[in-house]
Amino acid sequence: MPSGNPRRHGLLVTGAAEVVTLAGGLRRGAGQADPAIAPPGTAVACLDGRIVAVGPEADVVDALSAALVAAGAGPDAVERLDAAGATVTPGLVDPHTHLLFAGSREGEVALRARGATYLEILAAGGGILSTVAATRAAPDAALLAHGRRWLREMLRTGTTTVEAKSGYGLDTATELRLLALAGRLAAEGPVDVIPTFLGAHAVPAETRAAHPADPAAATEAYVAAVIGEQLPAVAAQGIARSCDVFCERGVFSADQARRILLAARALGLEVRLHADELAPSGGAELAAELGARSADHLGAPSAEGIAALARAAGTSRPVVAVLLPTVARFLGLAATEPARELIEAGVPVALGTDFNPGTSPLASLPLVMTAAVLALGLDPAEALVATTVNAAAALGLGDRGALEPGLRADLVVWDVSTHAQIPYWAGADLARAVVAGGRIVRAGWDSPAGA
Ligand code: NIG
Ligand code: FE
Repeated sequence: MPSGNPRRHGLLVTGAAEVVTLAGGLRRGAGQADPAIAPPGTAVACLDGRIVAVGPEADVVDALSAALVAAGAGPDAVERLDAAGATVTPGLVDPHTHLLFAGSREGEVALRARGATYLEILAAGGGILSTVAATRAAPDAALLAHGRRWLREMLRTGTTTVEAKSGYGLDTATELRLLALAGRLAAEGPVDVIPTFLGAHAVPAETRAAHPADPAAATEAYVAAVIGEQLPAVAAQGIARSCDVFCERGVFSADQARRILLAARALGLEVRLHADELAPSGGAELAAELGARSADHLGAPSAEGIAALARAAGTSRPVVAVLLPTVARFLGLAATEPARELIEAGVPVALGTDFNPGTSPLASLPLVMTAAVLALGLDPAEALVATTVNAAAALGLGDRGALEPGLRADLVVWDVSTHAQIPYWAGADLARAVVAGGRIVRAGWDSPAGA
């Protein structure tokens, strides 16, 4: 008969070659390269979904025993996870995805190979708008099944928290539907899903059709609908944590993004933006002006935009630069995000997949780390900071992204002997075990660490 309180669940992770804690909060400048590697022999103990101790194994075992006694549970409530020869890190946090959509757009890859640009395809009614048509037509069950499929892929590659934007509805009913589905996926777990409202992702076909000769008037009319109809409905239902805008020359201007984001903030939402993905559009400057949680993409920020982010970094509300390096690779763009310049300017940097059917049909953060190392010149430690503690900060989540007592028990046991090999073995299936909310949710395979 098991003794004690059976509802209690402890987890003890021992034997790792390297435990990388990322303890100490948001990193920037030289700190971006500091993963906080614990001394050899470090173990991690968790109880009921929280980390209770990180340190020498004997101390951690004592701390877990004491916590179990206090919780009224016996020693048989503890599951053991042998991390022999492996690297243990916090669960990865993906701070920028467009998780919920229907369909796929592989045909656009061929169009771009023949010279069409991303914005030309959108202006012709394709791109985002073709995904909007498919998404509006898809039943909830299909969207949920698709979301689950890709969350499973993310979990398999070590991601335990995923931001998920709406933005393929572009009308009040469908935007609300997408955010509600994100909430359902969050409730199902084990991956935590953080919903973001992105009504201002593109101007929908019906609004364009209402202003056939005047695209600027169509955009203004849609901005008015986002502010006057969509945002109040989203805020009333409390189903989004933040609001995003695709601030880009030819899509929504910085002035339009400012109006939308100020309205969102007045309704209690946090703000973030797609900033200067393709051309300098005033997005980085606006993110700094508003004290946004994050400025995302930054494929082509102006020098003034980088300077504005650098100034914000020294304040109590640093804007996290969320770089999405697979996008330029996927779009075949020559420009690269100025990662080194941002780090040297003291701007905290995070990395995300931007998982979406148009510019980044890719769900693996380790592969994004590889892209960041190869294309942006980050070191593996900088890339790991960018996908853990800094990514959590980009989402305003102080309860994860590091292995510290009191934080969520989300961690990954990687089948490599040092974190520096995570981006190096590009595309490999390295997550031997994934723990989310204190439970082993992926036990990949049982061979000892091979590298
Ligand atoms: O982050 N640029 C805006 N949104 C997405 C792409 C969406 C799409 O093409 O479907 C992005 O790149
Ligand atoms: Fe995006």
